[in-house]
Amino acid sequence: MTTVPSPAQLGGRSLERVVYAEEEIRRRVEALAREITEAYGPEDELLVVGLLKGSFIFLADLVRRIELPLKVDFLVAASYGAGMVSSGEVRLLYDPEARLTGRAVVVVEDIVDSGTTLNRILPLLAARGPKSLELCALLHKRRVRLDPEPRWVGFEAPAEFLVGYGLDHREELRHLPYIASL
Ligand code: IMP
Ligand code: MG
Repeated sequence: MTTVPSPAQLGGRSLERVVYAEEEIRRRVEALAREITEAYGPEDELLVVGLLKGSFIFLADLVRRIELPLKVDFLVAASYGAGMVSSGEVRLLYDPEARLTGRAVVVVEDIVDSGTTLNRILPLLAARGPKSLELCALLHKRRVRLDPEPRWVGFEAPAEFLVGYGLDHREELRHLPYIASL
């Protein structure tokens, strides 16, 4: 299946190229969900925590393919201002309500760039005593080494600014069903 960008969705902007088409994303997300399904059991009380806003579409597709009992919660952290460069600052705007203690927690992130967001947030979550804490990132730019690295990565992302499938540019273009570079 090829993805033809709809000009009406783009509101006059032009894309550089479609980097991951819908079908490719769907296949990769299915494979990630299979691996997560195999990594845990019902006794793990799996909790999937999505980092908003960027992970919302990925998380929705991912959890629908995980064949285990699980709960979903969210966490809101803002690391970027309006521009395309990380400011290095992370603000926590919403904290998961679900209990983390004793559960297997998988944090779902759209894209790892400078790693600032995760470096700030993972210790906060680890302090709540989960049974395990793993990271599943749809995209990884490999600009930095993370400690720990995500256990699951969808795609090795090119060093370009990407939009679509949850990723935004100034809060726009999240709704594109494919991932493109600006
Ligand atoms: P980090 O803290 O620098 O790793 O940045 C992580 C966050 O920055 C991601 O969750 C995204 O929201 C945003 N981000 C990083 N790279 C891109 C990109 O190429 N397109 C859109 N958002 C990005
Ligand atoms: Mg984000």
